[in-house]
Amino acid sequence: MADASALDGATPLVEASDLVVSFRQHDGGGTFRAVDAVSLAVAPGEVVGLVGESGSGKTTFAKAILRLYRPGGGTLRFAGRDITTLGEGALRPLRRHMQMVFQDPLSSFNPRVRIRDALALPLRLHGGVTAGELDAKVAALLARVGLGPQFAPRYPHEMSGGQLQRVAIARAIAVGPRLIVADEAVSKLDVSVRAQILNLLRDVQAETGVAMLFITHDLRVARYLCDRIGVMFFGRLVELGPTAEVFARPTHPYTRALLATLDHEGGDVAALEPPPPFAAGGCRYRTRCPIARESCRTQRPELQAVAGAGHEIAGAGLGVTGAVHRVTGAGHEVACPHAAAG
Ligand SMILES: Nc1ncnc2c1ncn2[C@@H]1O[C@H](COP(=O)(O)OP(=O)(O)O)[C@@H](O)[C@H]1O
Ligand code: SF4
Ligand SMILES: [Mg+2]
Repeated sequence: MADASALDGATPLVEASDLVVSFRQHDGGGTFRAVDAVSLAVAPGEVVGLVGESGSGKTTFAKAILRLYRPGGGTLRFAGRDITTLGEGALRPLRRHMQMVFQDPLSSFNPRVRIRDALALPLRLHGGVTAGELDAKVAALLARVGLGPQFAPRYPHEMSGGQLQRVAIARAIAVGPRLIVADEAVSKLDVSVRAQILNLLRDVQAETGVAMLFITHDLRVARYLCDRIGVMFFGRLVELGPTAEVFARPTHPYTRALLATLDHEGGDVAALEPPPPFAAGGCRYRTRCPIARESCRTQRPELQAVAGAGHEIAGAGLGVTGAVHRVTGAGHEVACPHAAAG
């Protein structure tokens, strides 16, 4: 490859093709695909949102992207290099380029390690920072995420959730990664600090040009932050497109159901009904789909371009307040042959 620092801009930073992750079923009977042949590419500097209710496979997909799981099928490329089956030793030099911000800031820090040392570790390991430079570098990182140097000697439990998530973001950007996966990074925070952390993520992204895979069950958050949005249902990617386009013309019946929650539940997808038992074969959405038909029992729908998509992207963005969306040129796709855009 294709060193991660030498991307040309045309090569996707991350490219998952028909990626599969299987787990053993809880009752011990066989395996199921938590991620079932998902294809998704993230361009350098792009922010891609992944939405879908709990259990749809968002976290599993993210962990597979970071090669915290070994995919059971498909291929995964990072900066052009096939890393699908790469061993841990070969992955190590790539790890600094892929960082993660978790849902629960407290559990993502070692309780016995002071903030200063938690930030110093990646700097020493990957950043080539000498011992003499560490304190200044840590202070600069804290300042970047809006925290004063007085926080450096503290332990994680001496910080609020919002402060600690700021430190998590500082830790993620410390070594200049190419990709940050943020998995429900604001959903455990008090409502009052969510917007601050979202703004911080957006600013850091704009400044550093880091690509982001942003996972959320809150559609408003995805709309605010993401250039493109992928909608997952039960292990499948059912719709993908530029954020403004997906919001203006939701096409998959599931996406439409999600967007309908914006009016009733404030966009919180968790308010939707839990899925019925696993629907094997055909379209997994069919037991909930208002337009299901006989063929949906047997034919598994694949993503295909939404007819007429891509023409109104710029105009469609006008309805999104406060958000600036780059139009990446990637199209609007849906995995349902029977749905019409509207
Ligand atoms: N390590 C695991 N072992 C077995 N099943 C798992 C594991 N992780 C996730 N799952 C299952 O995979 C499915 C997808 O989970 P997850 O990726 O966490 O969804 P989401 O992040 O969208 O809520 C769920 O049914 C979940 O119970
Ligand atoms: S393929 Fe069939 S069941 Fe699936 S979303 Fe489309 S109409 Fe509904
Ligand atoms: Mg999750």
